[in-house]
Amino acid sequence: MVRKKTVSAEPEWVRVASVGDVLPDRLLPVNTDAGPVVLARVDGEVYALEDRCSHQDYPLSAGDLEDGQVECAFHGARFDVCTGRATQLPAITPVRTFDVEVRDGAVYLRLG
Ligand code: FES
Repeated sequence: MVRKKTVSAEPEWVRVASVGDVLPDRLLPVNTDAGPVVLARVDGEVYALEDRCSHQDYPLSAGDLEDGQVECAFHGARFDVCTGRATQLPAITPVRTFDVEVRDGAVYLRLG
């Protein structure tokens, strides 16, 4: 008898940080199985973006968080933290975002 291994198609929720580590107006880089991610808190909500600028791949976590946008430290591109949309040149393509859940004092991301 051959047994088939069951593989879930659902992405997993993975704990990446304590919610207290995600401070307002600060960017928190975390490493995940999906690659580097940067966490940001805006209006009390935690958001997660791929930690790689869509312009030339430098880490967004080296930049600044202001008015709900991340500004890349290297050439000044800006991205909406909530949507990943590029809002200022030289970047024109969005960065990936991840679903975030906060429970029991921890931040979970849905990676996949
Ligand atoms: S690498 Fe981010 S703006 Fe150029």
